[in-house]
Amino acid sequence: MTEWHFYEPGAGHRLPHDPLNAIVAPRPIGWISTISTKGVRNLAPYSFFNLFNYRPPIIGFSSMGWKDSVANIAATGEFVWNLATRDLAEAMNATSANVDAGVDEFALAAIDTLPSRLVKPDRVADSPAAFECKLTQLVRLETKEGRALDQWLVLGEAVGIHIDPAMLEDGVYQTARARPITRGGGPADYFEITEDGLFRMRRPA
Ligand SMILES: Cc1cc2nc3c(=O)[nH]c(=O)nc-3n(C[C@H](O)[C@H](O)[C@H](O)COP(=O)(O)O)c2cc1C
Repeated sequence: MTEWHFYEPGAGHRLPHDPLNAIVAPRPIGWISTISTKGVRNLAPYSFFNLFNYRPPIIGFSSMGWKDSVANIAATGEFVWNLATRDLAEAMNATSANVDAGVDEFALAAIDTLPSRLVKPDRVADSPAAFECKLTQLVRLETKEGRALDQWLVLGEAVGIHIDPAMLEDGVYQTARARPITRGGGPADYFEITEDGLFRMRRPA
């Protein structure tokens, strides 16, 4: 039997590519819209993203560095999460460009928008689901020694949720119908969620 590859991340992975985000994959994409205090709209994808609580719904993403999305949320306390789908993949990718804080990324990627109801940032009109969120915690990540990192975990409560009625079948939200995209590893891998991947298993009683 060949030996398992074991590594301590602090000492390097000894592989051609870092396997970390290929292992913890695929990850849902936090496509986050914000607005600066000067009124500049911002939109960017974050794959260190997930839903952390049901009631109230709390979602979060983490930013490597103090990026514009984090700066805007820290200043305004608001953001919107937009579902990234196969049809929106190229537009989503375009919004990851490293541009100046003064650039409107909706305009940059030619993305149609709709106003939110309870928060200032707009939402992506063609996203079949969007959560309007208020900041609950902004956590600076630390190492096990307590050394502060320049990595920021943003957590927010969804105070308003928009769902395209086409995603509902007898009132039940159909995950695959939107063809959500998720992020794999490497520089370019994505996975699309389709009906073929669905299987069902109930929790033990
Ligand atoms: C699919 C995808 C996922 C990404 N995930 C993250 C992430 O989890 N954390 C992060 O800091 N940057 C991530 N990025 C890079 C940011 O989107 C990029 O730095 C962007 O310019 C940040 O925009 P902002 O400065 O307007 O917030 C990701 C990019 C893509 C395309």
